[in-house]
Amino acid sequence: MVTELKKGIYWVGGIDWDLRDFHGYLTQRGSTYNAYLIVDEKIVLVDTVKHYLYDEMLSNIRKIIDPEKIDYIVSNHVEMDHSGSLPMIKNIAKKAAIITSPNGEKGLKAHYKEDWDFKVVKTGDSISIGSRNLDFVLCPMVHWPDSMVTYIPEEKLLLPNDAFGQHIASSQRFDDQLGFDVLMEEAAKYYANIVLPFGEQVLKALEILNTLDIDMIAPSHGIIWRKNVPKIVEKYKKWASNETEKKAVIVYDSMWGSTKKMAYSAKDVLEENSISYRMMDLKHCHISDIITEILSAKYIFVGSPTLNNGVLPTVGAFLVYLQGLAPKNRTAIAFGSYGWGGQSVGIIEDVFEKIGFNIPIKGLKYKYIPFEKELGDFKDKISNCLTS
Ligand code: FEO
Repeated sequence: MVTELKKGIYWVGGIDWDLRDFHGYLTQRGSTYNAYLIVDEKIVLVDTVKHYLYDEMLSNIRKIIDPEKIDYIVSNHVEMDHSGSLPMIKNIAKKAAIITSPNGEKGLKAHYKEDWDFKVVKTGDSISIGSRNLDFVLCPMVHWPDSMVTYIPEEKLLLPNDAFGQHIASSQRFDDQLGFDVLMEEAAKYYANIVLPFGEQVLKALEILNTLDIDMIAPSHGIIWRKNVPKIVEKYKKWASNETEKKAVIVYDSMWGSTKKMAYSAKDVLEENSISYRMMDLKHCHISDIITEILSAKYIFVGSPTLNNGVLPTVGAFLVYLQGLAPKNRTAIAFGSYGWGGQSVGIIEDVFEKIGFNIPIKGLKYKYIPFEKELGDFKDKISNCLTS
């Protein structure tokens, strides 16, 4: 199914309706890999699709032109959800040169061992394709060292690859065709799970993009922004700056209910202090959904009982994920119950320290079952540090 974005510029990607796991990220709405075909004096394909959706992309291209006529293939990003079909399309588009960043060339050579005709570009470079120009801005680490964006000034069109994406499979292509709340929820989830560690690089990229006249952003995943361009750019600024709300996320797992009691006592304190919160029991909540909540939360509570001198495996997996994504400017409190060893709280705090969280109070732990007195003490300590 081909969609014309602008006159002579088409979406020719693939829709991954069944995708539910994107290296650990729960993609409950599936995804798309967006490839774009620009028909001008030169014919340009911008990015490709995951290898198993190649036939869909090829069929889409064939509805518009003979793929042998492609002059350039822009590879904005080496990751295989966008380059996976490059070897196959190159077998047909034999004359096509590959336009990519310096790291893109290295990455594509390392992935595919092909000596293609590379046209390496850097920030400020521009290639005329007839009535339009392709301008390039390198955006290292948004999402890989090779990442770059392509801008077409005559169309006010930005093709930023991973940036501004969302994992949504849909027969609709544009933001005004889909519920805004769903779109923003998925854009936030995408940012939290993919882009969060690269806030500084995002801010640098936004500075450059700020100088461009953009009325459409066509990312490599999900829906194309044409109605809400300023809103998604503003959100990226906020997320990349680690701006948060007066909100807490209480993440925990429990063996016999003691750590859960503490989690719910923390919740009581938050209510008393008019701080909004989400209870996220790791038995029921996916870590990628928890990170999405943390994207806008100033306070993070993590609780685990001690199991075999450590934390519960669910908590361990969450901490590894959290440490990798490393949100900044958060205040975090560790808690948990124990029988004899009591190591869990220290393990959680070690991760908080490695990430650089503000830790206002030493981790709170109680032996076996916290009864009224201990829970009162727990609440007082949390209340004191939230109000101080
Ligand atoms: Fe959608 Fe970093 O690949």
